[in-house]
Amino acid sequence: MRTLLIFALLFTLPAFAGEGDLHLKDGPGKQLVEANCSMCHSLDYIQMNSPFLDRKGWEASVNKMIKAMGAPVAETDIQKIVDYLASQYGK
Ligand code: HEC
Repeated sequence: MRTLLIFALLFTLPAFAGEGDLHLKDGPGKQLVEANCSMCHSLDYIQMNSPFLDRKGWEASVNKMIKAMGAPVAETDIQKIVDYLASQYGK
């Protein structure tokens, strides 16, 4: 009974979080963002912040993720990620 409950929770939780319907806009760098920015939190952090952040803001945000949060983003990917965020989700 208990295992059944755990299984039920495992399968329903992601549905509640709405993870399934979140799609980032298409554009160069999208895969990089999906790969680098979804391991700690959901990608809707990006959508939620798009009204507030311009290129400078996204640059600062990505750097904060790397320096303060420890996001393992390759040096060579940083600019591509910032470019994508600024062009698709810039203020
Ligand atoms: C190592 C874990 C980790 C990774 C990887 C990561 N983040 Fe975050 N991010 C966090 C944490 C922790 C917070 C703060 C969450 C909170 O306060 O609820 C956060 C918050 C945010 C916020 C909300 C605004 C803010 O500054 O608090 C944005 C936007 C964001 N992340 C974007 C990104 C982007 C873009 C990437 C990919 C480059 C990324 N994150 C990768 C850990 C991570």
